[in-house]
Amino acid sequence: MTKQLAKRFGLAVFVLCGFFSGSAALEPPASKTVGNLRSAFNAESNARVRAEASSVKADGEGCHQVASLFRAAAKAEEIHAGIFAGLIRQMGEEPKAFLETPVVLSTKENVESTINTESYDAGVVYLGYIKQAEREGNPDAVRSFRWAEETEKGRVRLFKGALTHLSSRMKGTRDTLVCSVCGLTTEDFSTRRCPLCHVPRGKFILVK
Ligand SMILES: [Fe+2]
Ligand SMILES: [Fe+2]
Repeated sequence: MTKQLAKRFGLAVFVLCGFFSGSAALEPPASKTVGNLRSAFNAESNARVRAEASSVKADGEGCHQVASLFRAAAKAEEIHAGIFAGLIRQMGEEPKAFLETPVVLSTKENVESTINTESYDAGVVYLGYIKQAEREGNPDAVRSFRWAEETEKGRVRLFKGALTHLSSRMKGTRDTLVCSVCGLTTEDFSTRRCPLCHVPRGKFILVK
């Protein structure tokens, strides 16, 4: 090999090495769905704490029916957090939640804030997570995000009803059913099967 050829060969090796090390740096990022599951677990865990605190506040204001609805919401959030935790563990990670002290206002304000938060979570956050999980071909994540999205949409309707009838919902309790599998929350006691995950009525938890 002449000196000239060796020089050119060395340059070619250098360029090729640079190309491959550069392509390693451009590898696709880790699954976004993994990050979304972590965020969802954290959000649902905090939502549970907020709903529990709001139920105590509602009872304190004598608004017992709304307190029942907040208790049902807390149970559903616990179920969602458990589903996300299970998926995170399947990926070999331990789920972590950073629980914040909830802001508790008047019951009317707590209901309004819940309507706003859950509308946004269902209509924006979970829809985005679902689309991403579909792109990544992760059916378990798609299903779990869908359950959370549908539950929150349905619960917005229940909280809107509670807001409309806040003054007439002061006395007694108002029983609610929560599906122990998907978290669906309903006041329809004629339900024979969960409309979301299709388990029989026996899988529903009665929340008073
Ligand atoms: Fe939830
Ligand atoms: Fe269900």
